[in-house]
Amino acid sequence: MLKVLVVDDDQGLRLSVKSALAVTERFSVDEAFDGINALEKIKAGTTKYDVVILDVDMPRLNGLQTLRQIKEFDPGIIVIVMTAHATLNDAVLAVKDGAFNYLSKPVSSDDLLALIDKAVNAHALISNIAASAPVMVEAGKKIIGHTSQMQKVFNIIHRLAKVDTPVLIRGASGTGKELVAKAIHYNSARKDEKFVAINCSAIPENLFESELFGHEKGSFTGADQRKIGKFQFAEGGTLFLDEVGDMPQLMQVKILRVLQEKLFTPVGSNREFPANVRIIAATNRPLEEMIKAGSFREDLFYRLNVVPIFLPALAERKEDMDHMVNIFIKKFNQAHGKRINGITADAVAVLKKHTWPGNIRELENVIEHSFVLENSNLITLASLPESLLIATGTSLVEAPSPQETAVNLVSAGLANAADAHIHMEVAEEENDEADLDVSGLNIDAHSLDFNAQKEAFEKEFIIKALKTFKGRINQTALHANIPKKTLLRKIEKYGINARDYC
Ligand SMILES: Nc1ncnc2c1ncn2[C@@H]1O[C@H](COP(=O)(O)OP(=O)(O)OP(=O)(O)O)[C@@H](O)[C@H]1O
Ligand SMILES: [Mg+2]
Repeated sequence: MLKVLVVDDDQGLRLSVKSALAVTERFSVDEAFDGINALEKIKAGTTKYDVVILDVDMPRLNGLQTLRQIKEFDPGIIVIVMTAHATLNDAVLAVKDGAFNYLSKPVSSDDLLALIDKAVNAHALISNIAASAPVMVEAGKKIIGHTSQMQKVFNIIHRLAKVDTPVLIRGASGTGKELVAKAIHYNSARKDEKFVAINCSAIPENLFESELFGHEKGSFTGADQRKIGKFQFAEGGTLFLDEVGDMPQLMQVKILRVLQEKLFTPVGSNREFPANVRIIAATNRPLEEMIKAGSFREDLFYRLNVVPIFLPALAERKEDMDHMVNIFIKKFNQAHGKRINGITADAVAVLKKHTWPGNIRELENVIEHSFVLENSNLITLASLPESLLIATGTSLVEAPSPQETAVNLVSAGLANAADAHIHMEVAEEENDEADLDVSGLNIDAHSLDFNAQKEAFEKEFIIKALKTFKGRINQTALHANIPKKTLLRKIEKYGINARDYC
């Protein structure tokens, strides 16, 4: 028997939900009169609830706050939100925060039972599958994300990679929807088959069906050859329906049929073909509103939305930015054959100030733009795109001189380990050495070139160590905690003669 907790400050509504659930005998139902009362009951642990049906607008602790605390306490509890029209936006937010879905008030018994079934099925599908650590996309390509939102996303990716259900990825432009779709594919059993992407907003309506399912020769004017559709092309693999919100209505029906029956018919053919293809869809559009307006089919939505993934905007996870800048610098060093080894603190401050409407794609483009323009070995304010400087109200003329930057570094709190890290990590890949503790480094205000400082320090340190161990390489490597290979490389790099210290 499923244990359900109904949370609403309106007793009448609690009763109506209870009676809606009473039509089957599958549930044992408790009530809570508001969020605080609900949390008390959940945390008491006397009953381990499977499903919580939660009102949004409540005194003391509203539905959203309650939801977050429930999920914090036990992410496995399924939460369904009930909303009046006025709180629809909050309900959408709730789904982002981990609610399974929401229902509009007055809640009908059929809708409620159907939604509980879907939630329980989806839950069974992805629970009990252990998540593993990093998410690789194609060989060598990682999804970056250290924030808790992204860690949650990684967890879902790993789980979804192990099952074969459709997936719906939601998120604004440039948040990594396609990257996540690829990650699911390349971590799944289908990884050796094709990942085929199709952009639903780019295909003319009259060619859509043929694009997806192919056509027979002569099936319509212009069809002078038989054509293979994307479904056949992706056979055994994954078909990524990008911008699925832009799919014409007629096609929505046809895709739904493929999802249900796993069969498709090319245009002009009288044969049905089996479709062994996993569907991953993505959209930036408000599908819930489109369903209300009649432009997106609700049945298709539910088919796709078995386990939704929401990707946060970059502005919501600026903590990941340092790391991202770092990785992009490494990537573009390789692509452009340059040796940029960091970014100045004032340039970082501008990146942090920007709102990033184009999200990670925009950040990647900004870094690449700087790579093309930058002549020094650091990304500086001057090489950032002008549009970014304008958007953040940054004036180059007033940009501080290096000396002033040194002061600003400290006063703006930017000279901490996290920012040193930006310079460090990039340098590290080339040197592939153990971490260098920079906390005791005395940075010369007149020379803010981190790499130059680091090299000077390294040289001095190695000479000192060699002197101490009388020029003996093995001893020096061992006691100074430097891998021998690294030590030899550095000795050569800095033109040190170990025999000078024997
Ligand atoms: N977490 C991430 N780590 C590393 N790179 C990322 C990440 N997210 C996105 N990117 C990069 O940002 C760019 C945009 O990503 P992607 O195309 O997946 O976004 P999208 O959500 O599909 O965008 P759109 O809605 O505009 O199609 C790509 O170059 C991708 O590699
Ligand atoms: Mg995309």
